[in-house]
Amino acid sequence: MAIERTLSIIKPDAVAKNVIGQIYSRFETAGLKIAAAKLVHLSRADAEQFYAVHAARPFFKDLVEFMISGPVMITALEGENAILKNRELMGATDPKKAEAGTIRADFADSIDANAVHGSDAAETAAVEIAFFFPGMNVYAR
Ligand code: TYD
Repeated sequence: MAIERTLSIIKPDAVAKNVIGQIYSRFETAGLKIAAAKLVHLSRADAEQFYAVHAARPFFKDLVEFMISGPVMITALEGENAILKNRELMGATDPKKAEAGTIRADFADSIDANAVHGSDAAETAAVEIAFFFPGMNVYAR
């Protein structure tokens, strides 16, 4: 199994709920290591660029407003099958549809304030890690 890196963002709603530690604990229990991390308040330009793939979607403006509404915890996670593992820990985009025991089922309030972001594929993980941690190796080794 490949050692991968993936990008996680604990979004403003979850940071405000003071559950960074509880979410990190789930990563650690699943065997994911924290390879890089920073708590930042995103600029509008950064949020717009990060979510540029959704620029034409009706929820884009609200998504950007939400992502800049408070600090976020940006983390590069590393481990076996890290991309899929993180997506499984997160649960479905809409917390109402997320499996019990997932991060979104337990900590998210709605489809727009849904606690966490996670890269959905190797290509996006590479782009997203480079965006927030320039110069970092996208692969563990
Ligand atoms: P998406 O990439 O579809 O989901 P995921 O975060 O699970 O990869 O959407 C990105 C974010 O956009 C999502 O986390 C929350 C927001 N969003 C909405 O606010 N409303 C929506 O209907 C959808 C699909 C997404």
